[in-house]
Amino acid sequence: MINMYEKVMESTKYIQDKVTKFKPEVAVILGSGLGNLVDVLEDKEYIYYKDIPNFPESTVKGHEGRLVFGSINGIHVLAMQGRFHYYEGYTMKEVTYPVYVMKQLGIQKLIVTNACGGINTSFNPGTLMLIKDFINLFGTNPLIGVNDERFGVRFPDMSEPYKLDLIDKAKKVADGLGVEYREGIYAGFMGPYYETAAEIVSIGGQGADAVGMSTVPETIAANYLGLDVLGIACITNMATGIQKNKHSHENVVKTAEKISNDLCKWVAEIIKAI
Ligand code: HPA
Repeated sequence: MINMYEKVMESTKYIQDKVTKFKPEVAVILGSGLGNLVDVLEDKEYIYYKDIPNFPESTVKGHEGRLVFGSINGIHVLAMQGRFHYYEGYTMKEVTYPVYVMKQLGIQKLIVTNACGGINTSFNPGTLMLIKDFINLFGTNPLIGVNDERFGVRFPDMSEPYKLDLIDKAKKVADGLGVEYREGIYAGFMGPYYETAAEIVSIGGQGADAVGMSTVPETIAANYLGLDVLGIACITNMATGIQKNKHSHENVVKTAEKISNDLCKWVAEIIKAI
């Protein structure tokens, strides 16, 4: 049986053989409805997940399922258009598999974005939130199991899951652009159902400002692998019990698409600054 390390190396080699003109150090994971960041990338090259050996395949509406290589001002960038969610039935190792490949490709900084529900009542649908920290409510995480020291240490530190230095730079860039943002704590919930009102009261009581169904696994894996992470959450709706309307994925994607312009402008400038 081939182990994860060998699988990751095989995926990496396939990508490196196909994409020779880019050596990205920055990667971006694009959340639901936020895929148009790739519009600002120049000289794009695409690799579909289904073509990469050992890569899982994306199944959710609003996700393209491909890696996009390109550049912004000469800076090489790898964008993941479509991510893998635990609720789709993937294992945590599969959910975070692309992050392991990113590391082998030479990525040093990872920007994670998502669409999520606001718990902090001073937020609105459309608020952009810099993620200061996370709460893992998945009941599991990608590091469970035998540790392969070639990837990282057995007991990784998680005291700065989102790098303060990157947060500072993102704030300066936002101020320069006039992009409004808030800061807060993101709770990762397993899904795929939107939380109950009682769960939101409980999650809010634990200190979360927003809740979503992604981001936490990738952040854990990236920290383990030694990548610096920046997280930006798009509040697409207020969480259950805070907003009156029922949730729908279509509304989430619609609102994310509306915020997407500001987010893209912001992320593009962050990439130039970090
Ligand atoms: N909860 C969980 N995930 C989400 C939400 C939400 O309210 N909105 C978008 N993703």
